[in-house]
Amino acid sequence: MGKIIAIANQKGGVGKTTTAINLAASLAALEFKTLLVDADPQANSTSGLSFNPKTIEKSIYECMVDGINADELILTTNVAYLDLLPAHIDLVGAEVEMISLDHREEKMKESLKNAKERYDYIVIDCSPSLGLITVNALTAADSILVPVQCEYFALEGLGKLLNTIKIIQTRLNTALEIEGILLTMYDPRVRLSNQVVEEVKTHFQHLVFETIIPRNIKLSESPSFGLPVIAHDAESKGAISYLNLAQEILERNKVALS
Ligand SMILES: Nc1ncnc2c1ncn2[C@@H]1O[C@H](COP(=O)(O)OP(=O)(O)OP(=O)(O)O)[C@@H](O)[C@H]1O
Ligand SMILES: [Mg+2]
Repeated sequence: MGKIIAIANQKGGVGKTTTAINLAASLAALEFKTLLVDADPQANSTSGLSFNPKTIEKSIYECMVDGINADELILTTNVAYLDLLPAHIDLVGAEVEMISLDHREEKMKESLKNAKERYDYIVIDCSPSLGLITVNALTAADSILVPVQCEYFALEGLGKLLNTIKIIQTRLNTALEIEGILLTMYDPRVRLSNQVVEEVKTHFQHLVFETIIPRNIKLSESPSFGLPVIAHDAESKGAISYLNLAQEILERNKVALS
């Protein structure tokens, strides 16, 4: 059985999509069969892997609203060992359409059931909201990874997120764990960046990943080439740090690396 990791933080622009694409691609580079699920109507993970969300006919939306098995819609990417369950803009309407469904928080979990058997890792890119689609992702997930940007107001909203996690652990998914808090867009020359690192480590201690993702131009430009950073510039600091993150997660999950 594979492990499902949801990348979530309702704060916008903190590096969720960058982390989802590049963590998934790094696990794939280490030859773990990996599925990236785009659970955001903005469809940035879909376009970041060179698919056009406007021409995507079926997406995670159909999985949740029409009860279609994810296996039927999974796309093969240009990256070995990496597949994609895409999003398109209609996903915005999914929350409204799902209101009347029974067990509406469990739709994503149901549709990923087979995929969980076939993949080693499933990484879900969540939208900047704590709405029903994100609740579905957290109900399907084994763990949540929270990216936190090394910026002013970094900790803002984290209390609310942790509260939501508690509610989900109580009512919907007792097995949900916190995989870790990931510091992103770190710039060692900026004093504020260093202060945020200290503050987050003081607050969350062992929950914070040792790997810190630096601000790196290769990370921000690789989606425009439709590639994860490792395929765009494998030597870049961005590529190396996401590989380190993948290794750290594998070690935390006690998977022996060859
Ligand atoms: N480590 C980094 N170095 C440089 N740029 C980065 C880095 N991480 C993310 N970015 C850039 O910052 C912006 C926001 O990142 P990203 O899209 O990953 O955030 P997000 O949390 O998914 O946003 P949203 O909440 O809108 O879904 C993007 O333009 C991305 O390219
Ligand atoms: Mg995003």
